[in-house]
Amino acid sequence: MRIRLLTAAALSAMVMAGAAVAEPIVIKFSHVVAENTPKGQMANKFKELVAERLAGKVEVEVYPNSQLFGDNKVLEAMLLGDVQIAAPSLSKFDRYTKSLQLFDLPFLFNDIDAVDRFQQSDAGQELLGAIKKKGLVGLGYLHNGMKQLSSSQPLRVPADAKDLKFRIMTSDVLAAQFEAVDAMPLKKPFSEVFTLLQTKAIDGQENTWSNIYSKKFYEVQPYITESNHGVLDYMVVTSTEFWMDLPDDIRSEVKKALDEAIALGNKVALDKSVADKQQIIDSNRSEVINLTAAERAQWVEVMKPVWKKFEEEIGQELIDAAYNSNN
Ligand code: LMR
Repeated sequence: MRIRLLTAAALSAMVMAGAAVAEPIVIKFSHVVAENTPKGQMANKFKELVAERLAGKVEVEVYPNSQLFGDNKVLEAMLLGDVQIAAPSLSKFDRYTKSLQLFDLPFLFNDIDAVDRFQQSDAGQELLGAIKKKGLVGLGYLHNGMKQLSSSQPLRVPADAKDLKFRIMTSDVLAAQFEAVDAMPLKKPFSEVFTLLQTKAIDGQENTWSNIYSKKFYEVQPYITESNHGVLDYMVVTSTEFWMDLPDDIRSEVKKALDEAIALGNKVALDKSVADKQQIIDSNRSEVINLTAAERAQWVEVMKPVWKKFEEEIGQELIDAAYNSNN
């Protein structure tokens, strides 16, 4: 009897040990946007590449549309080990570092090419380590695009935005940017934006063509000003603990898959900045306003003083490096 019991215990221990070895590492990738966006496509590509190359060893689960975590919770959840990869916009790291506020300075970058040049420079790559002290690792940047202003009223000059309520991401620079035009900024999660616009609890918001299109903001916003006043890009992040616990060979394969998925996401971003804008124009739901050079100059003049306010926190050298990437 005793022998039989021992054998059973030994057997179950062996089964458990065997099961532990065979169990794949699960990477939960949580994001807030739709699947037909640069980030959505990038996450799905990453899942696909990992399934192809690390079958049985690593499994990626993608949770789009804030299904698992909204953007205000995902980094906390990551530190608790409840999610392994996310790609919040660079505007959502305010509580973790002040350096990334750089990307929110209005009219800093002329276009996504300039953003890309800066991100790939030494200074840009160094910023991937800005959240290291908080237990997070930046694995790379991912593009979405330049931001546009959508509103219930036509916005041609800064005075048109006076007293209007705009949803913003959780960034003090973005708050200052809207305060500079005497508007009222409200920090709200992405998942709430459509309803806030639809119920007219807010008057407008700023976002990229692909987010405005995929989340149907254009159906509840009669005007979109093509302002290209700022950038909405992402940092792909994981926790240091999770990352360093991965076996070396797995870590390098996962990183390779991520890099390839990011390259695909960047291509999607470029395509969608043109195609989704066109879809919105073709829908006739929203009028796209093109600014004259003189009108645009007014926005620049009123918003650019925001830089001064954050110069000390961000660092003048970093601002100069980013600005010089326009050339
Ligand atoms: C937003 O909150 O507007 C964006 O950061 C959403 C996203 O992830 O693109």
